[in-house]
Amino acid sequence: MCGIIGYVGKKNSVPYIIDGLKKLEYRGYDSAGVSILQEGKLVTVRAVGKVAELEKAALLANPKGTTGIGHTRWATHGKPSEENSHPHTDCSGEIVVVHNGIIENYLILRTKLISLGHKFKSETDTEVIAHLIEENLKHIRTGAPEERLLKAVQKTNKEIAGAFAYGVMWARTPDYLIGVKNQSPLVVGIGENESFLASDVPAFLQHTNKVLFLDEGEVVLLRPGQVTVLDKTGTEKKVKPVKISWDQKTAEKGGYDHFMLKEIYDQPQAIEDTLRTARADFGKILGLDTPALRGLQNIHIIACGTAYHAGLVGKYYIEQFAGIPVSVDLASEYKYRSVPHKTKTLAIAISQSGETADTIGAVKKAQELGFRTLAICNVLGSTLTRICDSTFFTHCGPEISVASTKAFTSQITSMYALAISLGLANGNLSKSSFDKLHRELMRLSKAMGETVRQEYPVRHLTRKIYKADRFIFLGRHVNFPIALEGALKLKEVSYRSAEGFAAGEIKHGPISIIDKGTPVFMLMPQGPLFEKMLSACQECRARGAFVVTITTPDGEKEAKSVSDKVLLVPQVNEYLQPVLNVVPLQFLAYWIAKRLGCDIDQPRNLAKSVTVE
Ligand code: M6R
Repeated sequence: MCGIIGYVGKKNSVPYIIDGLKKLEYRGYDSAGVSILQEGKLVTVRAVGKVAELEKAALLANPKGTTGIGHTRWATHGKPSEENSHPHTDCSGEIVVVHNGIIENYLILRTKLISLGHKFKSETDTEVIAHLIEENLKHIRTGAPEERLLKAVQKTNKEIAGAFAYGVMWARTPDYLIGVKNQSPLVVGIGENESFLASDVPAFLQHTNKVLFLDEGEVVLLRPGQVTVLDKTGTEKKVKPVKISWDQKTAEKGGYDHFMLKEIYDQPQAIEDTLRTARADFGKILGLDTPALRGLQNIHIIACGTAYHAGLVGKYYIEQFAGIPVSVDLASEYKYRSVPHKTKTLAIAISQSGETADTIGAVKKAQELGFRTLAICNVLGSTLTRICDSTFFTHCGPEISVASTKAFTSQITSMYALAISLGLANGNLSKSSFDKLHRELMRLSKAMGETVRQEYPVRHLTRKIYKADRFIFLGRHVNFPIALEGALKLKEVSYRSAEGFAAGEIKHGPISIIDKGTPVFMLMPQGPLFEKMLSACQECRARGAFVVTITTPDGEKEAKSVSDKVLLVPQVNEYLQPVLNVVPLQFLAYWIAKRLGCDIDQPRNLAKSVTVE
């Protein structure tokens, strides 16, 4: 969480930094701040709340300078307040630091620094970095200021522990910034006569698409248009910039009121782009040849939140098409449970951002157990893609809304492609069955195009139900995880109470919470479990529920007879149906949140990528 940006160039850095912070706001928005080096002095402006508040304060203070750093915060240590906002300074006020992550040994360091006479102004763990650099600088008296700062930073890095990325600026080193990456995201942009440091590429994408991805433990020195990377040992390392193909437009709202709505509408394209890669041989992506693919005996899927729901759908796919037993774990649980060691196991980590600390921790555990690891990820150069043995990229473009939509459907699509490829490789699927499933997959983007046209009926429906206290979502088999996802989406953006259940389970307890008028959403495409879902509708209706069925045209007539409202999605094969069925639920969450006046793209208490455990 938290977003960092740094600029060093020939122009006034303030607009670059404020604009970059707006692009990073999805990472946290409790407070924001900026420090600018103005005529040899640091001018710092900070504000509680969103970047818009900082922008107002910065307009008033009007700092100007060609070197600056900024930060948008998701509070971990210390409440959201101006004192706890970044950038944080040392005692002299000459060193400023912006930081993302957690300094685990900050209390020990803080106590030590206080005993040495340092005065702390905030409750944050970040502030120890600024004071430590100050302390270390006292003992490095020779060399140019840039060299001294670097040595002090390197010494500091040996003293701090945890997962962190930070940027530092010293009043005595104009046109110079240092960035440090250690298990938290940090990327570098190289423009003409200007360089950028940021937590994520969209922060500077409108200025340059030349990006350097750093490895763990690396330090980067930025000057205008010139960047030096030092590896863990402090040795200069040649790194080739990567050209990012996303354009700024993709990273912006494109005329929609919210990123969430835009991203729901992006889904046909996201699936199309993801499938372009899925045409490739999965064996190659996994780095395994056909005999090795054949030999896979177990698959562990690990993920969090929405990505976990994609993993739950993936289990049905792999077991059905490849006949390999699959376990699906919440990454935060996998890391701490006892996982029996089994040979020929593949661990698949699903993550939009590739920076989720829990998922990264779980992958490390899988690696310690000797498992091969595959990332299903959306972000090039992210930590997950760097630590896993191989990566399959979901090509859905930047997902900015905190509530994940297009990444989810791209993840499920990828799991399907993986499952049928594994099935073909291990002989569980005949070539003709594979071809049929593959053809159906390749038609999915078109069906998604028809599905997103269904916004209006959902929007209309929400007028009637948006004030309900609680919402229930029910599905079976591959649609059970969609019920969980529908509930999560609604909770996240509308703050309403919502729960998803396997439809067969309601009689074992949950039916007691259904009351007169409780909206119950039934995921029931025509197919093998349709009749069972009809019974579930009757059971809920008998308790006074307001039943909404999500079904396919073939099921419409019967669904109408047992529900108050029918929402239609196109019919695709039974296993691909969840990819479409979730769409009305995404619109539902969006429209309920909109009618309730919630902050849709940046829901309270949440951050887009959760880089702390
Ligand atoms: O970036 P990741 O996919 O690893 O993120 C995992 C979860 O934090 C994420 O899916 C979260 O649940 C979303 N806010 C859901 O909309």
